[in-house]
Amino acid sequence: MKLRLPQVLAITAAAAVMATSQAVPASAAGPLKSITNRVVGSAVAAQNLNEADFKSVLTREFGNITPENEMKWASVEPNRGQYNWGGADAIVNFAQQNRMTVRGHTLVWHSQYPNYLNNLSAADLRSATQQHINTEMGRYKGKIRAWDVVNEMFNEDGSRRQSIFQQKLGDGYVADAFRWARAADPSAKLYINDYNTEGINAKSTGLYNMVKALKQQGVPIDGIGIQTHLATKYAFPSSFRQNMERFAALGLDIAITEADVRVPLPADAAKLNTQASYYKQIWDACHAVSRCVEFTTWGYTDRHSWIPGTFPGEGAACLFDTNLRPKPAYQRINP
Ligand code: XIL
Repeated sequence: MKLRLPQVLAITAAAAVMATSQAVPASAAGPLKSITNRVVGSAVAAQNLNEADFKSVLTREFGNITPENEMKWASVEPNRGQYNWGGADAIVNFAQQNRMTVRGHTLVWHSQYPNYLNNLSAADLRSATQQHINTEMGRYKGKIRAWDVVNEMFNEDGSRRQSIFQQKLGDGYVADAFRWARAADPSAKLYINDYNTEGINAKSTGLYNMVKALKQQGVPIDGIGIQTHLATKYAFPSSFRQNMERFAALGLDIAITEADVRVPLPADAAKLNTQASYYKQIWDACHAVSRCVEFTTWGYTDRHSWIPGTFPGEGAACLFDTNLRPKPAYQRINP
């Protein structure tokens, strides 16, 4: 096969990048996972585990993987009783081979669930949910460090989102889900996860009041996940640390589960510098609270990030660029 010059150059450049990212550590201090006693993780899509350079930086820097979509209900059971474990198995096997832990994501969520749930009676939805939790957690029993049991159940005003679970099963679905989850895998830490709950606001206060009541009732909930999808066009949530402290005072762990910081495109040096200060503040807030046990980003490279597809005009939200070179945000956290 004859290659045109631009193709040759592109291949040479790609090879150079791969060699660089494998040979040169991003920081003289060592990889991110080595400079902290917190779990340091990244979300990963199973299909990207085919890229050698992507895998190499992932295993070098991070100690935990969260499957980006592969453990969601619509992925694992698209039709009733028809299971598809390919992607989830690939991620769990990869983690075990590379001595990484896994954050399970997610069991009860108003999004990315199979259509047939909409047609179930309340009693059937309840048993389908119990069965789903049992089956999925059972399959990976002992292999998942922490699970996002319930995801995104609050509205911005702190009231409960009217999901099918809320509408058909009522308030009790949350306690039920956590009890079923504890029974299915007693070794997993059980979390409730949400976004826009970084600072003290109506939504995080709704969450606070609910988890406080659940703890008092003896519901087995171990922690709260704060997604931390931030944007530089909004001010940094200045009460982030204080908010974590009030949850810690309830006896809960806190995990930063999906951090990214999007900037208006095209990115430039000034924007990436602002982004760096946001990342550093997230990192520092977590390290200032002893019960903040995890710092996980929603993807680690701008090569594979959900942001440009979901927030048109914004992007460049990750710690590494598309060529897997560390960005200013990485350098700020790990100089
Ligand atoms: C996102 C994935 O990154 C996308 O690939 C998918 O199309 C939609 O879901 N909060 C969550 C995650 O809890 O599951 C979402 O992941 C991002 C927002």
